[in-house]
Amino acid sequence: MSDTLLAALDSNWSAADPAALTPDHAARLAELEQLDPALVALYRRGSEVLAGAADANTLRDRHTALLGRERGVITLGLAEMPRLSVDERKVRGKALNLVKRWLTEVHDARREAIALEREAADALDVTLPGRRGFTGRPHVLSQVRDDLLDLFHGLGFSIYTSPEVELDEYNFEKLNFGPDHPARDAHDTYFAGPDVVLRTHTSPGWVRAMEERKPPLRLVFPGRVYRAEAVDASHMDQFHQIDGLFVDRNVSMADLKATLNTFARAIYRADLPTRIIPIYFPFVEPGVQMDVQCVTCSGTGHIATAEGGKRCPVCKGTKWVEVLGAGMVHPNVFRAVGIDPEIYTGFAFGMGLERIAMGRYGIPEIRLFLENDLRFLEQF
Ligand code: DAH
Repeated sequence: MSDTLLAALDSNWSAADPAALTPDHAARLAELEQLDPALVALYRRGSEVLAGAADANTLRDRHTALLGRERGVITLGLAEMPRLSVDERKVRGKALNLVKRWLTEVHDARREAIALEREAADALDVTLPGRRGFTGRPHVLSQVRDDLLDLFHGLGFSIYTSPEVELDEYNFEKLNFGPDHPARDAHDTYFAGPDVVLRTHTSPGWVRAMEERKPPLRLVFPGRVYRAEAVDASHMDQFHQIDGLFVDRNVSMADLKATLNTFARAIYRADLPTRIIPIYFPFVEPGVQMDVQCVTCSGTGHIATAEGGKRCPVCKGTKWVEVLGAGMVHPNVFRAVGIDPEIYTGFAFGMGLERIAMGRYGIPEIRLFLENDLRFLEQF
């Protein structure tokens, strides 16, 4: 009879490891074996599937199949009793009641365990460290740019934005680079059309500003520039610059030097030595370059090594690091934009943001700026 009752249980149901059952499981099976062997398989399987129910719903379904009042296996067993002899009935009745009580116990124990498991899973562990929210921040180059723009804002300069895709006329010609000017060699770039280039510097912004507005002008020109460079640790084919332009009556080299020294003291250190040396750019006359003393070797040209020292790799032994180009606006540039160089003078300067950021933070490799590796970016 136990077989027909067993058939009412799904044979696919997960069962608990018998070892995980009540400590007296084996004793119960032995007792049943004595009393009514036909019910041993039923109790074994029934207790295992109740104890093996993974969650409350599963447990409820199995409880209904085994102990349900109307169609449960125990009820079916009791319903068969009238067909038995009086002696058999006594035994079966006693055994079925025993199985019912034991299965109810297994069921109740499992229900309690599931409730505890849930509670543990839902519990809030107040000792866990909090999860810090991800906070974004401006890219290191944006930070350096904004610091510079802040500084120049304090000196009275406003921002002028000019296009990255530029006419040859503005990138070169009106800045006094003739069509075959040798200084173009340093500005090899990408052509977007016969007379259209990706700008090689932010200086074309001055031409646009001067054509558009009347002096006095005090402007800065931040932005991305492009050059067809072979890429290495200090060269990329795109980078960033800020140019500055100051045009008025009586603007002099002294104004330029004061402005550049204010910049260097604010961005590097107040007592870092600087120097201004002559250099050629077609759009300024005289043209200068500002250097700051090399921070890596403290202006000695050498650094200490285990082998007793070597030439400083940053300044290449020159003791100085170039930070920007500058000069007095060339009369030809004024003429090209219709400003009378007999009335107005002006100074201009241009600096590379990557170089300033590399010097400021000791970043050895320009490609890091564009790789978007958070391990790098999160340091600033
Ligand atoms: N535009 C120059 C370059 O990219 C840098 C420069 C030099 C800018 C002198 C200036 C300047 O404004 O006066 O190489």
